[in-house]
Amino acid sequence: MFEEWRLKKGVPAYLQLKDYLKEMILEGVLTPGVKLPSTRELSRLAGVSRNTVILAYQYLEDDGLAETVRGRGTFVTKIATGRGAGVTLRWPELLTDCAVLATELDIEKKETRWQKGMISFKSIAPDPELFEAEEFKKAFLHRFALEGKKLLNYGYAQGYRDLLDYLRNYLKGKGVPMAGKDLLITNGFTEAFDITLTALTKPGARIICENPTHNTAIKIMRLHGLEITGVPMEEDGIDLKELEKALATGDAAAVFLVPSYHNPTGVVMSPEKRIALLKLLAAHRLPVIEDGFNEELRYSGSHVAPLAALAGRGNNLIYTGSFSKILFPGLRIGWILADQELISYLESIKRSRNIHTSFLDQAVLYEYLQSGRFERYLKNARRVYRERHKKAVELAAKYIPAKRIWGQGGLHVFIELPEDLNARQVLAESLKRNVIFMPGDIFFTDGGGHNTFRLGISRVKNDQMEEGFKIIGEVINRMKGR
Ligand SMILES: Cc1ncc(COP(=O)(O)O)c(C=O)c1O
Repeated sequence: MFEEWRLKKGVPAYLQLKDYLKEMILEGVLTPGVKLPSTRELSRLAGVSRNTVILAYQYLEDDGLAETVRGRGTFVTKIATGRGAGVTLRWPELLTDCAVLATELDIEKKETRWQKGMISFKSIAPDPELFEAEEFKKAFLHRFALEGKKLLNYGYAQGYRDLLDYLRNYLKGKGVPMAGKDLLITNGFTEAFDITLTALTKPGARIICENPTHNTAIKIMRLHGLEITGVPMEEDGIDLKELEKALATGDAAAVFLVPSYHNPTGVVMSPEKRIALLKLLAAHRLPVIEDGFNEELRYSGSHVAPLAALAGRGNNLIYTGSFSKILFPGLRIGWILADQELISYLESIKRSRNIHTSFLDQAVLYEYLQSGRFERYLKNARRVYRERHKKAVELAAKYIPAKRIWGQGGLHVFIELPEDLNARQVLAESLKRNVIFMPGDIFFTDGGGHNTFRLGISRVKNDQMEEGFKIIGEVINRMKGR
């Protein structure tokens, strides 16, 4: 039996040996009461030192799986491993509607996956080549040296104090009035939105948003059982006339908007439209959830203030943000800025769900932010993405016979084809030539968008972009010719 055992690299030998023995015991190969080989014998059989075997036996004893009888040796303890006591359940009969719907809406499972060798325009995750891993490592080491033990313990649901202060200042710098407002750190926008909807909507309630919109947001709204009213987009943001109609029924519980570098269209709402929009919304006295996830990646020189900055001193604006696109999505850190009273409720929901976002992550992020590296990183990332976006628009115009190429920025361009073309067919043909992208229908709230698709450009080099766009263009032209 021990002859089959092979040492792997990277894990201490005594732990590997202990785990191997544990598996033998739990699987019933080594039965209760059986005497384990002497340390000398096992050391010979397994090709490890006697000390390794002694340690492995000690850890097995700690786990309650072995006992040493002085003068006689080490024995497998008489434990019940539960063999035969289990039953086989049929999960589909037990699952909730939420579990079924979440799986149904899980595009990671439903859509074709990227495979090695493909040119991929599927994702809009940041380019990891831009990440300053060394600087982040320094921030980690520094912060951990300062307060490592504290950071490994429980923290506060609201967030790591220094990060909250940093963000308060940061948001103030965007012109957002802070009086009467408070912040909550969340696991990205995704949790911020989920918590906010938990607080403000009941199943069956109506929510208004842009159509198309962020697919994850659609998923969350549907999992909350909301009726989604999608309002069409124009090139300068949501269609206000259509929004007015949607609001006119008077039964909406909230409005969700992505005014800057909207996903998937890349549209930035014009300043004039922002003012008119706020006026319209104010008349309806509704909570407005603004997602500012991508604001920092502004490519043009002019500053566009978030709705939260333009709304003045009212308390209906709930402003969410995230470091997922402007820095590192793997950290899963975002925030909600809202009226103090509301944040207090949101904080309790957050605490009841997952206590708090990792304090270690928040503290290291704070260290990195305050070191000044963030601004420098952002400057560089903005330059790289701006050039990539410009190139993408140029190449899309050259190769892809679109009805319209949408977007002023972001990490993607959105293509609208003539009505009679189907983007899923274009995808199927492109896949045959190893090019993948995101079909646009997944972003639509009403099953529309059959003639649209999103091209994520954050991680493709110019030559790949050219090759990929050319293939997509050829596929479309061939379909048009049929
Ligand atoms: C509209 C929008 N908001 C927010 C995010 C980021 O979400 P999170 O912070 O949960 O990573 C994305 C990511 O693609 C997005 O498209």
